Amino acid sequence: MAKKRIFSGMRPTGKLHLGHLVGALSNWAKLQDEYECFFMVADWHALMSEYENPADLKAHILDNVIDWLACGINPERSVIFIQSEIPEHLELYFILSLITPLGLLERCPTYKEQLRQIDNRDLSTYAFLGYPVLQAADILLYKADSVPVGEDQLPHLELTRQIVRKFNHLYKTECFPEPKALLAQTTRLLGLDGRKMSKSYNNYIALSDTSEIIRKKVQGMFTDPERIRVADRGHPDKCNVFSYYAAFFPQAKQHAHERCAKAMIGCTDCKKELAALLLDLLAPIQEKRQALQKDKNYLQEILSAGRQKASLAAGKTISQVKKLLNV
Ligand code: TRP
Ligand code: SF4
Repeated sequence: MAKKRIFSGMRPTGKLHLGHLVGALSNWAKLQDEYECFFMVADWHALMSEYENPADLKAHILDNVIDWLACGINPERSVIFIQSEIPEHLELYFILSLITPLGLLERCPTYKEQLRQIDNRDLSTYAFLGYPVLQAADILLYKADSVPVGEDQLPHLELTRQIVRKFNHLYKTECFPEPKALLAQTTRLLGLDGRKMSKSYNNYIALSDTSEIIRKKVQGMFTDPERIRVADRGHPDKCNVFSYYAAFFPQAKQHAHERCAKAMIGCTDCKKELAALLLDLLAPIQEKRQALQKDKNYLQEILSAGRQKASLAAGKTISQVKKLLNV
């Protein structure tokens, strides 16, 4: 039986960090065993919010793809490509926008939240309202069965499904399958300061950070506020450092928990050990990163092969859709 197809994307807005690793990349890498995978760099989506500063976009795209490969996304098994290189995304985005009710977009919780929260960029644009429509176009161009996403993206997936139902109903077709969300069972990793991990808070460990920086960042992490002296028993479940043990090192988790709760270790040492574990975890990734950075031709070959495969699939869908609309 043919493998089911999954599709996912990531916006190239900066360096990838540990949150991307637990939240998406390690999951993507695993899914390659079971599914035919399309992984897309969502550069148009990035521009929807970063349109005032496109200068670093190209660099972010290449840097992110290097991280994907270093984290085990395998170009021999998966299609890796850049959204803007496949013009059909914008074509289908427009076609779907013909039938997408304005109210659905205006009520979309992610849209309302971003408008409210982001105050250093002007997001009251025509395109930004259509963000989920472009996302629907991404998924539907490849007729993906499932979409691995974080919880924050569920409203966009629901919107995609609504668009599919309307499209199929209007044009009496089964052109598009309703895509399912594949929620990864990972815990949401907080930033180093215990706030949401975010580029604008600069509270993350990048996959490309040096050993020195990683040690420093871990040493600066917030810990259990009730643990003042080494002799105080800690509450690991209230400590962000412990949540990193839990997210990345299940084999060390119980030991770390016990030593904290019984005051057998001080926070400085506990963090030193966490930093050492993180360095071990990232070492092979960084080694691959360095090799890939030296081989820009190989990277271009992968992206060009990805473009060809994506283009083939996207072209088929668009012809089908245009026929249904008599254009
Ligand atoms: N909106 C997604 C995010 O911010 C990125 C994305 C773009 C995406 N197109 C997609 C995710 C299609 C899944 C499927 O994370
Ligand atoms: Fe957190 Fe470790 Fe300190 Fe416990 S010992 S409070 S887990 S840093």
